[in-house]
Amino acid sequence: MAEIAAPEALTLRAITLGDAALGAELSRRVGWPYRREDWEFAIGLGGGVVGVRDGKLLATALWWPYGEGHATLGMIIVAPEEQGAGIGKRLMQTLLAQAGERSLMLNATVAGEPLYARLGFRAHSGVRQQHGHVLAVASPELDVGERLRPGSAADLSILECLDGAATGLERGPTLAALLQCGECLILERAGQPVGFSILRAFGRGHVIGPVVAANEADARTLIACWLHGRTGQFVRIDLPFGSGLCEWLEQVGLAPAGDVTAMVRGDLPAASGPARLHALINQALG
Ligand SMILES: CC(C)(COP(=O)(O)OP(=O)(O)OC[C@H]1O[C@@H](n2cnc3c(N)ncnc32)[C@H](O)[C@@H]1OP(=O)(O)O)[C@@H](O)C(=O)NCCC(=O)NCCS
Repeated sequence: MAEIAAPEALTLRAITLGDAALGAELSRRVGWPYRREDWEFAIGLGGGVVGVRDGKLLATALWWPYGEGHATLGMIIVAPEEQGAGIGKRLMQTLLAQAGERSLMLNATVAGEPLYARLGFRAHSGVRQQHGHVLAVASPELDVGERLRPGSAADLSILECLDGAATGLERGPTLAALLQCGECLILERAGQPVGFSILRAFGRGHVIGPVVAANEADARTLIACWLHGRTGQFVRIDLPFGSGLCEWLEQVGLAPAGDVTAMVRGDLPAASGPARLHALINQALG
């Protein structure tokens, strides 16, 4: 009887910007709408590993350091025909070694959750994606003493301060990159910055995030200003579980599009507030 050769193991190597186009193709195969530009953005901000065989890119896993204490993991994909053969585990073990002592966070799909649980991650919350074509949204009304102004690279320290208070993370380089590729609005009250939001091209259209604000009313203002004037355009937003904004967003055209489980390995970062994270950068970057 003829012997059937076992498939050759995948070679793992560091991910590079040159992998972005094939990464986009791989993510489309598992139903994720990342564009090449989204991959370039993600690769440029972090590190990671790809699995290749015969010149084909068949697996990816990325991580992003947020200071010395924490990191997030994401874009963990194994090509459908390669799944269930231990590749996901190999990718994850490589990332765990690269991230060192940091505590690690990720947002897990149903497919990924058992793998992460086996590697010591525990579920602590979740994230709801809402998206759709925007219906007519009125321009937000501001109270006396409030002002919305565009944010620029010169505002990086303001964003770092608000974001750090909301997340407990050091996300300076990521915020700087978002200021370069997206548009930012800063909400001021009595001349003091109290929140901000960023809109950027992503996936099938635009994503709004992060949204950092002291309360849901401010967060809604910081979202409504982007939706206003975008009637008919495709917009996505990733909300932490418990957000009171879900219903309003659904009314303005952004329907629930799926939940993922927020998991952590190690300690969760401590947010000092009063600002809070009302929308993520996106599910992978946290
Ligand atoms: C999630 C994913 C990356 C897992 O990769 P994989 O190569 O199929 O996983 P592995 O074969 O390495 O499995 C790792 C472990 O998880 C277990 N496992 C995997 N899927 C499981 C499932 N559905 N139920 C229970 N256990 C499961 C395996 O048995 C294995 O356990 P072991 O270490 O005790 O042997 C892959 O399924 C995938 O790309 N899915 C689509 C994209 C996605 O959802 N990515 C996750 C984003 S957070």
